[in-house]
Amino acid sequence: FEKNKEINEEFQPIWMNLKYFKQKCALIKNYLLPEQIIGKLNEIQHFQFNSNDCICASFPKSGTTLIQEIVYLIQTNFDYESAKKIDISERFAFIEWPTVKLQKLTQNQQRFFKTHLPPTFFNESFTKAKIVYVYRNPKDVTVSLFHFLRSINIELTYSGPWNEFVRSFLIDEVYYAPWWKHVNDYYAMNETICCISYEDLLRDFRGSVRRLAKYLGKEKELTEEQLDKLEKWCSFDSMKNNPKVNYDWFKDWGFVKKSFSFLRKGQIGDWLNHFDVQQSKEYDQMVSTRLSPLVPRFNYGI
Ligand code: A3P
Repeated sequence: FEKNKEINEEFQPIWMNLKYFKQKCALIKNYLLPEQIIGKLNEIQHFQFNSNDCICASFPKSGTTLIQEIVYLIQTNFDYESAKKIDISERFAFIEWPTVKLQKLTQNQQRFFKTHLPPTFFNESFTKAKIVYVYRNPKDVTVSLFHFLRSINIELTYSGPWNEFVRSFLIDEVYYAPWWKHVNDYYAMNETICCISYEDLLRDFRGSVRRLAKYLGKEKELTEEQLDKLEKWCSFDSMKNNPKVNYDWFKDWGFVKKSFSFLRKGQIGDWLNHFDVQQSKEYDQMVSTRLSPLVPRFNYGI
């Protein structure tokens, strides 16, 4: 991939000279994107979504995989058989990932998508689809992202110390940053999309799933028995041991270290084991000054 080559004018990247994410990111439309996906942005901008499509969107490490599994099962009227057979990464097309061929997806079938891109990278057809946005308190996002990026073996890896990672997050210098803008931009669409927090999913699984099913027009199919089964199926332990969702195949590919678990801790509040008082205050300040007042404030698990 040659920088600035074959990129639509609209997506002219500004290459950043960042300390840790140097040569790995470009600033486009005020978002810091990994360079691997930049060549695909033009195609994405022209991609047509339709009203049968379901999109799970998130800032990385916010509970994407969990919401994908829930959305898939509700939307397929609880087709556990296919969920048992097919990897989640095959059931959902990861829109911006370079190897995913968007043209191969035919219009007249139920399509599931995953993306970390904010809405500004899509055309008007984006809002025809059912969009579920999952977001998580930024302290736990940072912890989860730090552990993930330290464990991957590809160019996107991060090998610096924790304190510097926190600093990078606070100055909007991690992939898909600014985190707060990402949440604000999706939350601005709250009237037409379904925004769910990771914390609500963990604290009130059944209430969150009912809300989601209503948004998907599936509330009638959601019986108490189905809720019981879904809650068990989507528990942390169950998903951690489920080879179709736990991304253990990343280890076979050499994409992550053998010791890594994609489902790492699955908790609210692991940040307490990582943040010092000053760092925590700076995050609180970021939330109070940058996050839109429309976004409900986080339960930090204290
Ligand atoms: P931790 O690293 O804090 O454990 P994403 O899917 O967006 O990459 O997010 C990954 C995070 O969601 C990880 O957080 C992972 O453990 C958590 N997660 C995934 N499935 C979960 C589940 N069923 N219950 C609770 N947390 C889950």
